[in-house]
Amino acid sequence: MFKDTIPGLERIFKTDTDSPKVVLVTGPPGSLKTSFCYDIMTKALRGTDDFGLYVTLEEEKDSQIKNMDDLGVSLVDNMHISDITDLREIDDIIEEETTDYVEFIEDMLRHFREEKGDNFTIFTLDSLGALYSLMEDTENMRKRMFSFFKLLRDFDLYCFVVMERSSDSEANLLGDEGFLVDGVINISIDRKKGKLTRYIQVEKMRSCHHDMEKHALEVGETGLKVLGPLFE
Ligand SMILES: Nc1ncnc2c1ncn2[C@@H]1O[C@H](COP(=O)(O)OP(=O)(O)O)[C@@H](O)[C@H]1O
Ligand SMILES: [Mg+2]
Repeated sequence: MFKDTIPGLERIFKTDTDSPKVVLVTGPPGSLKTSFCYDIMTKALRGTDDFGLYVTLEEEKDSQIKNMDDLGVSLVDNMHISDITDLREIDDIIEEETTDYVEFIEDMLRHFREEKGDNFTIFTLDSLGALYSLMEDTENMRKRMFSFFKLLRDFDLYCFVVMERSSDSEANLLGDEGFLVDGVINISIDRKKGKLTRYIQVEKMRSCHHDMEKHALEVGETGLKVLGPLFE
C-alpha cells in the first residue's frame, strides 16, 4: 500500500501493510495531513485499475484540487473527490431533511462498492472533527463510529481518517478512536529555536514492522518526501 508512493516512506515502513485497515492521520492545522493522504492516494492509484474515494468536509473540491496542484500532486481519473456539496445533494435526492452525514458517507461507500466491486480499494475521510461538528444528532456517536469503522473493514478498504489533534493530546476525540483503529500516523510540527520542522511519526500500525522515530516531512517538487529521523 505505501510502497512506491511518497519517497522516503520506506525509512518508516519496513514491511508493506495490507487492507483492511483504518488509519488515523492526526496533527495540528497546517501539518500536511490533507496533503499526505491525497498524495499517497493519487500515487497509489495512478496507472492502476483501482478506485479511490476522497471525502473532504473541510474544503471545497475545486479548492482542494488547486492546492494539491500547487504542491505538485495532480488528480488521477480513478480517484473521486466528494465534498460537502455532494453530500447535501444526496439530501435533496432522498427528499428528506436529515443531517446524518455518517449515513450519507456509508451510502456513498456502498454505492461505489457496488459500482466498482473489488477495485474500490482506498478511502479517505477528511476530517473526523468536521464530520462530528456537522452531525446534529450526536447521540450514540461512539457506537455509530464503531460500526462505521467496521463497515470500512468489511469492505476491505485501506482508509485514512484525518483527525485534528494538538501536539500534547491523545489520539481521541470521542474518547476511543485511537483504540478502534488499526493505525495512528501523527504528522506534526516541531518547534526548536524559532525554527519549525514538520515531521511524521507512526504511533501504531497493526501487523506491520515500522520505525517509531520522528521523521522530517518536506514538500518536494512532486509532493511530499520523508527524510531521516529528527535528532532531539
Ligand atoms: N506549494 C507549497 N509548497 C510548500 N508548502 C506548501 C505549499 N502549499 C501549501 N503548503 C503548506 O501546506 C500547508 C497545508 O497543508 P495541508 O495538507 O492542507 O495541512 P492540514 O491538512 O494538516 O491542515 C500550508 O499551511 C502550507 O504551509
Ligand atoms: Mg486538512
